[in-house]
Amino acid sequence: MKAVIVKPGEKGATFSNVEIKEDQIKGEEVKIKTLRVGICGTDRGIVNGKLDFARPPPGYNFLVLGHEGLGRVEEVGDKVTSLKEGDLVVPVVRRGCGKCLNCKIGRQDFCETGEFVEAGIRGMHGFMREEFVDDAKYLVKVPRDLGELAVLAEPLSNVMKAFDELIFVQKRSVWHCEDSSYGCRNVTIIGSGPIAQFFAMTFEANRFNVTMLNRRDPNEIEEKISRTVGFKFVNISNGLDEVPESDVIVDTSGYPSAFIPLIKKLKRNGALILFGTVGGEKSEITSDMITKFVEYNIAVIGSVNASKLNFEEGLSYLSLWKARYGDVLKSMITKVVKPEETHSAVLEKAKG
Ligand code: BGC
Ligand code: ZN
Repeated sequence: MKAVIVKPGEKGATFSNVEIKEDQIKGEEVKIKTLRVGICGTDRGIVNGKLDFARPPPGYNFLVLGHEGLGRVEEVGDKVTSLKEGDLVVPVVRRGCGKCLNCKIGRQDFCETGEFVEAGIRGMHGFMREEFVDDAKYLVKVPRDLGELAVLAEPLSNVMKAFDELIFVQKRSVWHCEDSSYGCRNVTIIGSGPIAQFFAMTFEANRFNVTMLNRRDPNEIEEKISRTVGFKFVNISNGLDEVPESDVIVDTSGYPSAFIPLIKKLKRNGALILFGTVGGEKSEITSDMITKFVEYNIAVIGSVNASKLNFEEGLSYLSLWKARYGDVLKSMITKVVKPEETHSAVLEKAKG
């Protein structure tokens, strides 16, 4: 079948005819026709040879790219009761090691052995292919109202997980406000790409006061989202004066040089969520910074991947935002390209 593939050690992605062993579908399995696959920084990292954990499945010398999938059910095995032909589904990315307790209870996002695989990233083919067969337990059913917007569910699931973790960790003290809401809490988000936008929308939906930062003015889409959703965008190229004292700082950039100067804005009992990853930058951690973390009870939360529940939460938020904000979600999908244009789409974005 036709698929977008990458080969380890080679840069770029090709649209090729490949052979993938797939038997007749078994009782719990579902055959899915791919409709849309999102492209993100992880794909760019793989295509540029910068993610050293990217690898093909055993027995293959190529990896089918694509982890942000959306497809339509074509056929279901005789034991599947949760899905039927024609349903739209989003597959989860990570599949557990089968050994540790977290993986055994569907929390492979907290795998303890590190022996998990991730579709389109490491050890398992991704979704940029005409069709694929998957176990029903890894498929999340898409509400009818969402249609192709559900391709946003996978990146959003990661944000849902990080938000859940924050609320869980902050239960260490009384953290809600006098009226029981989070309306007195400030969150500052570093970066303004789609993940930062999802963080802003999630915190706003939970009534936090949201500020988004970049070292430039917002572009057209960012401006529209901040106006429609109702959060502040601050250009910090001339300093941090306009950045409020914050209960939470979320870094989506992965650059220590971006979040280290902002640590002085963190309030007591606050949290720093680290979400972005990039390779290579070196920065200094000072003992004064450590003193601040200790004296202020600062929690540092690193977060990756998401559970099936987080996908479901994400789909509910997407329905809410679609109803509330009109075509804002649609404008987050900046471009739709054909499979044969994937190579240039991935590289083109890398320049930006
Ligand atoms: C995906 C996650 C995955 C991570 C690996 C992200 O782009 O959304 O599911 O665990 O990459 O680093
Ligand atoms: Zn992604």
